[in-house]
Amino acid sequence: MSCYASILAENPYFSRYPRGFSKILTKKKQERIVLKIRNLESGYGKLKVLKHVSMHVDAGEIVTIIGANGAGKTTLLSTISGLLKVNSGEMVFEGTSICGLPPAKIPALGCVMVPEGRQVFATMSVEENLILGGHVIQKQGKKVLRELLDHQYQLFPILKERRTQLAGTLSGGEQQMLAMGRALMSSPSLVMMDEPSTGLAPLIVREIFEVIERLRDEGNTVLLVEQNAKAALSIADRGYVLETGKVIVQGPAEDLLANADVQRAYLGRERIEN
Ligand SMILES: Nc1ncnc2c1ncn2[C@@H]1O[C@H](COP(=O)(O)OP(=O)(O)OP(=O)(O)O)[C@@H](O)[C@H]1O
Ligand SMILES: [Mg+2]
Repeated sequence: MSCYASILAENPYFSRYPRGFSKILTKKKQERIVLKIRNLESGYGKLKVLKHVSMHVDAGEIVTIIGANGAGKTTLLSTISGLLKVNSGEMVFEGTSICGLPPAKIPALGCVMVPEGRQVFATMSVEENLILGGHVIQKQGKKVLRELLDHQYQLFPILKERRTQLAGTLSGGEQQMLAMGRALMSSPSLVMMDEPSTGLAPLIVREIFEVIERLRDEGNTVLLVEQNAKAALSIADRGYVLETGKVIVQGPAEDLLANADVQRAYLGRERIEN
């Protein structure tokens, strides 16, 4: 039994809130919709960015949103996270409408974001950052917290080595791993990642993408926003291409990789080659 499966078996909190970690250990997909968005519109004051965006994420999938600078990718994640007001449309997470919910409520439902630029707490240690990520499950007691912490250290061995080091002194790749580990500490149903490859060397990018694949293979559900379209599509199950706030193409990742328009616009110059 995996670490998370054993936590689930012992802990009624997790069975009330079935989260990704308990699920499939293979690539077989569950057909349970975790997030469904319909005709979403949002923006910044008078600036309308997202225009009738519809999409969904099923449990156990990696879904990627690709698009150029300014396409609205971060705006989409910020809107799902409750940081931006919804002008119109619907967002349903795990069967609950999340439109209009305050940002603090969304992670508590199991929807967490790894923000662009990591945003770790620089003056706190690696372990303190991780423990903060687990505040949602803190009332479950120290044992659960410890097991989640151990799982992050298993997933990211470098974080264990650096556990007492101040987060601000980590390398960019280590900070990205810490930001991912911190998000996973709440045992979420959905992890949203905004450009995890930004500013990292190709080898580190590869490592980060391998971890994201491993997360999916352990049963987690990931919404991955990336400009690095080739790398993202090579690990994703499905993808959406966002252009000036609209979804212009969507489908299985292998279809998008083979799509001539997508190739021309987004797969020309990549940071990692397969
Ligand atoms: N805080 C803000 N206030 C006003 N306009 C904003 C704000 N943030 C983003 N925008 C605008 O919204 C549009 C979409 O930006 P967004 O950051 O969502 O794009 P993106 O796809 O994430 O781009 P990138 O790949 O560069 O991160 C852009 O035109 C941008 O200038
Ligand atoms: Mg962005």
